[in-house]
Amino acid sequence: MSENSTTIIPSSLRPVGAAAFREAMSRVAASVHLVTTDGAAGRAGMTATAVTSVTDNPATILVCINSSSRSCQLLQANGVFGVSVLTPQDQKLASVFAGLGALPWEERFSVGEWTPGITGSPLLKSGLATFDCRVCGTSIVATHQVVLGEVVDVRLGERGEALLYYGREYRQL
Ligand SMILES: Cc1cc2nc3c(=O)[nH]c(=O)nc-3n(C[C@H](O)[C@H](O)[C@H](O)COP(=O)(O)O)c2cc1C
Repeated sequence: MSENSTTIIPSSLRPVGAAAFREAMSRVAASVHLVTTDGAAGRAGMTATAVTSVTDNPATILVCINSSSRSCQLLQANGVFGVSVLTPQDQKLASVFAGLGALPWEERFSVGEWTPGITGSPLLKSGLATFDCRVCGTSIVATHQVVLGEVVDVRLGERGEALLYYGREYRQL
């Protein structure tokens, strides 16, 4: 395409329906993480697959989290968050932090072993890797916040199998 060319997008192009989108996304294998935060606003954490590398210079990741979640509000108020990459042994944690067990949200951190990152965010000791982040940008997209995090520390756990979510169920790789 030349420098001066213009792409004309037909006005008939519309987003596909949510059901079709969700079915297609169920075919995308994704690793499972816990996104956590702690600070003046309080502690919170949730299960998330929507975690992506953005650039390695400066090291930056993004997470997409529902604006209505408790974690989203606290994470933004604290200005910091941690991401712990789960192993197959952490499947129970994934359910607890998705709010699927009987545990109330205040007790989520009673499951698993935690250590604070340099930002104060709780990091899972058993994580395959952890990313400790300072919020460096946010963008609202409909129901979700895209939160960019500058990675100020990484910690590596033992190399091993990863917990995945694929076809609406947990798998391991
Ligand atoms: C496998 C799995 C992946 C999930 N990924 C996301 C995600 O990427 N973003 C999101 O907003 N919610 C995601 N959720 C839902 C949240 O974990 C769930 O709504 C959680 O209870 C929010 O907690 P909170 O409101 O206490 O912060 C996922 C749930 C599961 C089971």
